[in-house]
Amino acid sequence: MLNGKTVVLGITGGIAAYKSAKLVSKLKDLKADIFVIMTENATEFITQLTLQTLSQNPVYIDMFKLIEKAEIGHISLSKRGDIIVIAPATANIIGKIASGIADDLLTSTVMASNCPKLIAPAMHSNMYENPIVQQNIKNLEDLGYEFIGPETGKLASGDIGIGRLAKIEDIINKIIEILKIKKH
Ligand SMILES: Cc1cc2nc3c(=O)[nH]c(=O)nc-3n(C[C@H](O)[C@H](O)[C@H](O)COP(=O)(O)O)c2cc1C
Repeated sequence: MLNGKTVVLGITGGIAAYKSAKLVSKLKDLKADIFVIMTENATEFITQLTLQTLSQNPVYIDMFKLIEKAEIGHISLSKRGDIIVIAPATANIIGKIASGIADDLLTSTVMASNCPKLIAPAMHSNMYENPIVQQNIKNLEDLGYEFIGPETGKLASGDIGIGRLAKIEDIINKIIEILKIKKH
């Protein structure tokens, strides 16, 4: 169970974003408190309304929209999470984080945070195997970022290869392992 734990879930603009609804739902079953941050591009793939309904919390997208009281959104969200999970993570977000870019709410929150970070990449195998993406992942791993997946199988394009989002159950087990919570 994840009682009393807060998961800040970043969702980015990949086709696997629809799977994040199941991730939110399962985390909710485990009694986690979930705050979703979507990139603008993620809203092309899944709605804020769906994620807000499933998480039972506001879903944040816009960096410059005043959220709670007089708080600065990315600072308050970065302090709130026991863990930040990005699932699915695009090649773009991995590159931005690895390069120290903080030009939207999700990347700014990651930059401001000192909690564990778990990244679940999902993309076409040609993107995943691109040496730039591999180097960015390695750089982030060297800095202590945790990764899970991707898996090999059928991709959205119809091709077979590496790039599928890790299974939701595996992402949840990894969150539990990182937070060092005993499984029941
Ligand atoms: C239909 C479609 C599917 C996409 N799927 C992926 C994907 O699975 N993984 C990925 O890294 N990029 C994917 N992209 C490209 C990203 O949307 C693009 O790199 C975007 O800039 C990501 O923005 P974000 O990281 O801020 O969410 C896809 C684009 C389209 C149009």
